[in-house]
Amino acid sequence: MKNNKIKNQLIKDQYKDDKNLNSRLNLHSYNINKIDWNDWCFNQMDFPNKARILELGCGPGGLWERNKYKLNKDWNITLSDFSKGMLECAKNTLEQVDYDFKYKEIDIQDIPYEDGSFDVVIARHMLYHVPDIEKALSEIKRVLATGGTFYATTNGRGAMAELYELIEKFDPEIGLNNLGMGERFEFENGKLLLEKCFSEVKMQVFEGKIVVPLAEPIVSYVASTMRGSAILVGQKKQEFTKYVEDYIKEKGSMAITTKSCIFKVKK
Ligand SMILES: C[S@@+](CC[C@H](N)C(=O)[O-])C[C@H]1O[C@@H](n2cnc3c(N)ncnc32)[C@H](O)[C@@H]1O
Repeated sequence: MKNNKIKNQLIKDQYKDDKNLNSRLNLHSYNINKIDWNDWCFNQMDFPNKARILELGCGPGGLWERNKYKLNKDWNITLSDFSKGMLECAKNTLEQVDYDFKYKEIDIQDIPYEDGSFDVVIARHMLYHVPDIEKALSEIKRVLATGGTFYATTNGRGAMAELYELIEKFDPEIGLNNLGMGERFEFENGKLLLEKCFSEVKMQVFEGKIVVPLAEPIVSYVASTMRGSAILVGQKKQEFTKYVEDYIKEKGSMAITTKSCIFKVKK
């Protein structure tokens, strides 16, 4: 119980604003798969003409900024996150977008809307952080209208494996998997969890490879993670930078596997 409280506080600290997330997105900009992730996700989604849409754990709002020219004025879009700071970042990102987005602070485990309030619910790369995933899924099911769709994204096992190995060799203490949280909802077990709650679950995979010729984006990525931010400071950060620089000098670049998916779930 005490452990859960500490983990929740670490998640809140991690996402108090978009700084850590942006460090990680910067490494992903070296992906040789040049299809944009936000474009890809949006293209996987079907929205009815008059959709009521709720995004949970929206982060800085990248999905909507990237797809701002495709938005239908008859949609009613609510962006939510349990982090007030992150919600402010989303507002800033979308300030220049000519659209009447609604914003609300929401914990996915306790969604403050009536049954059947939405046609589409979205939760991208966030369910693995949630203490009670089954409660979150039952809340999503409750607020979805009959025939509505839930879209969830996550990573597959083996994503970022090469980076994980490098860190393991440098210092097994750091860990990259957000204290084991990432494994709680991934390709392999996510489908089973969703099928406990919903009858139709389909999955599409998005794969790529980061090829990065510089140490800095790698070091910043690791230093932005929950463990990394506590460990990679001062002298230790310098040592890690040197370690990555030596690796890149020897190999020319670092190649890192990326693997994500979107689940399309029908109520
Ligand atoms: C990895 S970020 C993903 C952000 C965004 N969905 C994206 O894909 O770019 C996870 C987000 O989920 C939010 N989050 C974590 N736990 C949450 C919870 N229990 N309820 C609502 N939001 C949560 C965090 O504040 C953070 O913004």
